[in-house]
Amino acid sequence: MSRGCLEQQRQRNRLAERINQHFAIRILELFRISGFDLQRQTSLTIKGCFSDALRAACITIEPERKTIVLGVTGSIAAYKAADLASLLAKSNYGVHVVMTADALRFITPLPFKTLSRHPVITDLYDEEEGWKPTHVRLADEADLLLVAPATANNLAKLAHGLADDALTCIALALNPKAQVLVAPAMNGKMWSHPATQRNVALLKERGVEFIGPEKGMLSCGYEGLGRLWAVDKIAARALEMLSG
Ligand SMILES: Cc1cc2nc3c(=O)[nH]c(=O)nc-3n(C[C@H](O)[C@H](O)[C@H](O)COP(=O)(O)O)c2cc1C
Repeated sequence: MSRGCLEQQRQRNRLAERINQHFAIRILELFRISGFDLQRQTSLTIKGCFSDALRAACITIEPERKTIVLGVTGSIAAYKAADLASLLAKSNYGVHVVMTADALRFITPLPFKTLSRHPVITDLYDEEEGWKPTHVRLADEADLLLVAPATANNLAKLAHGLADDALTCIALALNPKAQVLVAPAMNGKMWSHPATQRNVALLKERGVEFIGPEKGMLSCGYEGLGRLWAVDKIAARALEMLSG
């Protein structure tokens, strides 16, 4: 075979591989939405239904895809979470964004839906296909619950077990193997208030890891400790926790 033909063949193979990967991701998403136990059923269910190449793509992709639930709360820094979602999704993790009602005042779900390639949960009563309530499914599937940015209000709810929205229900129903990483962002006085500090201490006692906040010029006009940690560093820590 000539060198030109060989190169064409290689390009065709690479294209076929990418197409298989693309469909494999979609198939696995459908499985997940339908409430299948992926660990057990991926190889069994797709046997006989799809080509060998597609089946192989599903099997190789799935073990890589750990699930990150990214909680976004009502902080002025909420827009930065879109970059965070993008960084995490590029690392081939399944990223599911859950927004509080107040987060919706700062940013729409659209960038999160597009960047994470998953529907965004904005309401406890948002239900997709399948029988399991979405918040329970995500609480079961999560390998990491990352709240970024986390408001003072959200920290208080997490610390005291309030569960009046999708994010706090997920946090309370979280499977015991899941890790929790929280990146607070708030006005410096909110952060240093004894109530917030007590909530942070309570959460740390329960194994929750904090990243930030950092010192700097805050959007409220004051300088202080309360800025969201750099999103690339939050993403790096999240990935480190998942690979550890
Ligand atoms: C313009 C504006 C910016 C805000 N930024 C923050 C913030 O960065 N951190 C914070 O803790 N609260 C902030 N708040 C207050 C929260 O939005 C408020 O406490 C809300 O109840 C949080 O709800 P959630 O925790 O359910 O998202 C801000 C409010 C406004 C109006």
